Amino acid sequence: MKLRVSVIGTGYLGATHAACMSSMGFEVIGVDIDPNKIELLSQGKVPFYEPGLEELLQQEIASGRLTFSTDFQAIKDCDVHFICVGTPQSTNSLAADMKYVDAALESIAPICKPGSLVVGKSTVPVGTAARLRSKLLEINSEVDLAWNPEFLREGFAVEDTLHPNRLVVGVTSDAAETKLKEIYQKNLAENTPWVRADLPTSELVKVAANSFLATKISFINAMAEVCEAAGGDVTVLAKAIGYDPRIGSRFLQAGIGFGGGCLPKDIRAFMARAGELGADQALEFLREIDSINLRARQRVIELVRKDLSDNLTGKKVTVLGAAFKPDSDDVRDSPALDIAVQIAAAGALVTIHDPKAIEPAKKRFPALGFEESVESALKGAELVLHLTEWKQYRELDPVKVKSLVSSPIIIDGRNALDREAWVAAGWKFRALGRAN
Ligand code: UDX
Repeated sequence: MKLRVSVIGTGYLGATHAACMSSMGFEVIGVDIDPNKIELLSQGKVPFYEPGLEELLQQEIASGRLTFSTDFQAIKDCDVHFICVGTPQSTNSLAADMKYVDAALESIAPICKPGSLVVGKSTVPVGTAARLRSKLLEINSEVDLAWNPEFLREGFAVEDTLHPNRLVVGVTSDAAETKLKEIYQKNLAENTPWVRADLPTSELVKVAANSFLATKISFINAMAEVCEAAGGDVTVLAKAIGYDPRIGSRFLQAGIGFGGGCLPKDIRAFMARAGELGADQALEFLREIDSINLRARQRVIELVRKDLSDNLTGKKVTVLGAAFKPDSDDVRDSPALDIAVQIAAAGALVTIHDPKAIEPAKKRFPALGFEESVESALKGAELVLHLTEWKQYRELDPVKVKSLVSSPIIIDGRNALDREAWVAAGWKFRALGRAN
């Protein structure tokens, strides 16, 4: 008999995990306390933009293997329960807010059937898994808990879930590992690396990986600052150091830095947790990573001020991009949107375009201007800011676009546009980390 799976929490991680588990052939029930989310998902609609997910969801619902419910009792016959709820930053500290994880465990603990396995996937402060395991065993001694961090990237969520580059399982027994091997048998057949770890190590792998990625981005953004001061070009520098296989060329795209629902909050929560453990000195550097990252946003604003003679009042500025990265409609801690808001606060008349994130951006900042088409957004602009590197923007024809704006000045906040082509078309082209 195939294992039956429940997924608790149907946000980004949970909805994707549920659809992918179903496509691997398991019977899956997704549970969430939000009736709107469950209603939408049951109808085969994804409440956010993620390439390929809606098609997969509809296919799996039609197969009869995938269902959704707001009733926790629905999970009682499942063999494996994945906890996929959010761990946002707390409102009054840098630490992660664990209230959803704790509530999820308390809801399922009394109803899990004997022999079933609870598997945490949420990103949590180290020590959480052991704490939750004790709590679970107190309520229900016939179950076990393992940790299995998720590394999916937005925009590639389905691909990353179906074909992860590694699987990490934090377990305290061979039985738990065996059950997880049964769940991930398809991946194991594809030779996906399998790492068995203890509970704390498995939790740390996730935050260590995100800290490393954040560090790589802030490193190249620090180099961009030095290049600007020295008259160098960070894009050439990145290319050159990236050829060293020990460094590698990915995640060396200098620009306005990282945002989203993971990297910023994960490095902060990691610092907060290290402080509680008395290891704060070890992660002191992450404070610098965070400030380099936030400084990149200010550096763009300084460029805007320079180009608009320090007076932004009434100036028409068009912002291309609102999502924190392309192929996503996620505007959580989006550097693009943050810059747009700050420029608007300084008096500029800001018009924002984004292929997918206008609605979520509008919801957060209804006072900003939004345009559905890139052409109408550009009309009459005195300055253009390219802040999220959607393919659509890279394909813009600088000659055609020039006829729409009132002053051809563009700042490429992502170092993704073809500078030569824009300059040849008569644009004043600015970028971070390159001679301006
Ligand atoms: C990240 C991790 O990559 C993923 O493994 C984890 O599970 C969740 O957090 P995600 O937030 O989807 O994924 O985005 P990612 O692709 O890592 O990009 C993060 C941010 O860094 C984006 O704002 C992106 O624009 C920025 N970035 C990325 C750069 O500024 N430069 C780069 O070279 C790469």
